Parts: sequence; C-alpha cells; structure tokens
Amino acid sequence: MSYWFLAIRRDGPVEYVALNRPDVRNAFNEQAIADLSSWAAAAQQDRDLRVVVFSGEGKVFSAGADAAWMAKMAAYSREDNIQDALAAASMFHAINTVPALVIARIHGAALGGGSGLAAVCDVVVAEDQAIFGFTETKLGILPAMISPYVIAKIGQSAARELFLTGMRFDAVRAKDIGLVHAVVPMSDLDAAVGRYVAEGLSASPTGLAAAKALIPKVAGRTAAEVMRLTAETIADQRVSAEGQDGLKAFLAKAKPRWVVE
Ligand code: COA
Repeated sequence: MSYWFLAIRRDGPVEYVALNRPDVRNAFNEQAIADLSSWAAAAQQDRDLRVVVFSGEGKVFSAGADAAWMAKMAAYSREDNIQDALAAASMFHAINTVPALVIARIHGAALGGGSGLAAVCDVVVAEDQAIFGFTETKLGILPAMISPYVIAKIGQSAARELFLTGMRFDAVRAKDIGLVHAVVPMSDLDAAVGRYVAEGLSASPTGLAAAKALIPKVAGRTAAEVMRLTAETIADQRVSAEGQDGLKAFLAKAKPRWVVE
C-alpha cells in the first residue's frame, strides 16, 4: 500500500512507520489521518506483524493536529466537524488496538496529537532534548480525541495540570508521569529503540497480543470482577500452540520457536 504522508519500511516481522510531512513538522491533516487509519486497518489484520516503530521524518516527531486544517473547519457545519473529529478518534482507537508491540521513537517534539500518538503506543522512547505538551488550549481548542488514551497513561492529576495550562514539558517530566518509558541521549535513541524491538521479538506474539487486549479490560475494575475473565484468558493461552511451545521450551532450556535474534 502507498501513502501520502507515511514512509514505511518492513524488516520481517518489524514495521518502521515514519510520519512524513516534515515541512509542517509532521502535523496531521485529513490525508495524514486517512493514511494512518489505512495503515492501522492493515496492521490489525497482519498476522506476521510483531513490532511497530513510529518515528518522525525531519526535525521533530510530530507537531500534532494541523492548525491550517482545523482552521478550515470553521467553514463547515457542526455535524461535519463531528464527522471529521470522529475520523481522528477512530484513527487513535485503531492504532491503540494494533495487536503487536507498538513503539514510539520521539525526537525533537511531540505536541498535541503528537503526544496523543505517543499515548497510544505501548513503549515510548524519547531523546533527552525532546519536548512534549498538550498545547491545544494555547490554540483555543482542547485535547479531546486523545484524552482517553492520555488520561489512561498519565492520570487525571497530570492531565488537569497539563491539559488546562497547555504548558510544554521535557522528556524527564514525560517519563515521571508515565507518558514516556525511556529517556536517552539522541546518540543512543536508535539503539534504545532497538533494544525494545529485540525484547518484543523474544515475546510470544499471541501472548503479547492477549496481554495487550487484557490490560484495558482489567483496568479500573476490581479483582473480583475480572476473576473469570483473567482465568479464561490464561486458560486459553496455556493450551495454545505458543503457550505449550513456550512452557516446554523453558523447561527444556531451549528457545521457543517464535524467538527472532
Ligand atoms: N499545524 C500546522 N503547521 C504547523 C504546525 C501545526 N501543528 N506546527 C508547525 N507547523 C508549521 C509552521 O507553521 C511552519 O510553517 P512555515 O514554514 O510555513 O512557516 C513549519 O511547520 C515549521 O514550523 P517551525 O515552528 O518554524 O518549526 P520548528 O522546528 O522551529 O519548531 C515545533 C517545531 C513543533 C516545536 C513548532 O512548530 C511548534 O511548536 N508547533 C506547534 C505545535 C502545537 O502546538 N501543536 C498542537 C496543535 S493542536
């Protein structure tokens, strides 16, 4: 598949997806959102895909929603605006549920929807000079479609501070609040991402996907409420081909079949 604003490189089970609108700092317009939605729909069905790395071409990861695109929406009806926003909301939902390990490689800046894209990734690795921010209120709007994912990562307290002020913050703060998982010098960024890619490739693909699907089902519910669900989930995985392969390989001190080195 070809895209206007994505540059894709495939390396076996790993897909490298670069946001590719560097002139406007990889801001998302309608076409970029359509590209990401098409990519996510294909990724949802791709049984060979195990790890994804999102990055940004040019100076920054992403400057978020395209201000010119949003300004244009003033000429459209409320219903058109809702449909347009729903397309972006669907895109974030689709990326959030790709059944693979999704890693964000952040350099320069991840602002607005750029920080939102980080929030729908499983692992976020940032270089130490990168800046973050839910800057929407500075532009007279607000972080809306990204809010469920961001609040799930950073909690209501940090969301109230950062959404309401729109202030920018550094990578260390982003790690403190749970938006980012590792902060490294720029010179180590690709190596740090590579270490997570390798970890992803040594995890069982179906175990990883099942764990990813389980987390939002369990979050916010009591242990008693999810007892049956968690028992059924592990019961299914134990007797699955990978469950059996992994357990037997461990006992035999061998490598399971899914490990790629
Ligand atoms: N939407 C549309 N265009 C954007 C954009 C956005 N979100 N962010 C940057 N651009 C455009 C700029 O208007 C500029 O266009 P020009 O070359 O025609 O003047 C170009 O991208 C380069 O931007 P510039 O600010 O000069 O780049 P920089 O490398 O110095 O800084 C950022 C990069 C990301 C730190 C800075 O562009 C920025 O803060 N952008 C706003 C991010 C934001 O608040 N996003 C939330 C949107 S809801």
